[in-house]
Amino acid sequence: MLSKEPVLARAHTNIAVIKYWGKADEKIIIPQSSSLSLTLKEFYTDTAVKFLNDLKQDQIRINHQRIPVSKKIMAVLNLVRKLANTKAHAVVNSVNHVPTSAGLASSASGLSALALASSYAAGLRLSKQDLSRLARHGSGSASRSIFGGWVEWQRGHDNHSSYAFPIKDSTLNDVDMIAIIIKKTPKKISSRQGMRRSVKTSPYYGAWKETTAKDLTTAVNALQNDDFRTLGHVAETNAMRMHALTLSADPPFMYFNGDTIKIIDLINDLQAKGVNCYYTIDAGPNVKVICQHCDSLRIKRYLSKFFNPNKIVISGPGPGAHLIQK
Ligand code: ADP
Ligand code: DP6
Ligand code: CO
Repeated sequence: MLSKEPVLARAHTNIAVIKYWGKADEKIIIPQSSSLSLTLKEFYTDTAVKFLNDLKQDQIRINHQRIPVSKKIMAVLNLVRKLANTKAHAVVNSVNHVPTSAGLASSASGLSALALASSYAAGLRLSKQDLSRLARHGSGSASRSIFGGWVEWQRGHDNHSSYAFPIKDSTLNDVDMIAIIIKKTPKKISSRQGMRRSVKTSPYYGAWKETTAKDLTTAVNALQNDDFRTLGHVAETNAMRMHALTLSADPPFMYFNGDTIKIIDLINDLQAKGVNCYYTIDAGPNVKVICQHCDSLRIKRYLSKFFNPNKIVISGPGPGAHLIQK
């Protein structure tokens, strides 16, 4: 039965330490490789959904602005309608507490919140694994935001086998990510376009697939053995190898700007001084620094000498997607 009241869900963003960068199946979003991320407490999306039988089309608002229904949103809503056996259309109101399309994973929190709110509003009561599969259809990284903390998205080979799950026996839970928000405006090349071009044209794509599988094993072992240095180091190399795919694509493209390079230099300086911190960068110029909680304030203080401290956000691990009672 369709819910009478709008259903409100919150999902937090996640930042990958081992990146997803390429699809094996574009339609239902099966990735080329497995990935690993940390769900973040400070960045999230709140999405309210209500289905109405007499509505002619889906009505979508993001950050209070009416937008045409996107492919990502349609993928989730259509699957929910199929599972719930309804033709009703949805009224969706979503607010991002994270910059949209800026490499801070708004598609992860946005499509994960939509998966939970819309399935619930349509009367479905999906398991977390099924929610992860549903969110995956909207945006690959959204499959991981269904869960809190450290999460692996196993590649799988079909809809059933491709879903995310939490790394339960992680001993590395006092970790922070520091986001340095140098640019909030939308990227020119979406993650979707960027990874498609990388798969199709980078001659290094085969090498990426091989190394990223090994990186995942290294990272999961580090999580289970309380080995922060190994985790940070493999995250840094994995991120740079992902960006090597953009630089080696045809035509080449780049998500870095001058400030991105500046922050990489600053983190290298801190590392040389013996501070345990590592950078990771997604599809956008903003940098995230991975560190242990005990070091995050002093790292922020150092970065604040060069960047506005209001744009430097320390985040600990966040929870999985959940419903919010009003
Ligand atoms: P990001 O780095 O922010 O994840 P992407 O290129 O992966 O950037 O995805 C951005 C796209 O995600 C937006 O253009 C929009 O289509 C979608 N998106 C962002 N926020 C939401 C939301 N709250 N609800 C639904 N879709 C969203
Ligand atoms: C660099 O999940 O945003 O953040 O599946 O096409 O929606 P689509 O792409 P998206 O890609 C995320 C890419 C990344 C790395 C990662 O989050 O693993
Ligand atoms: Co995204």
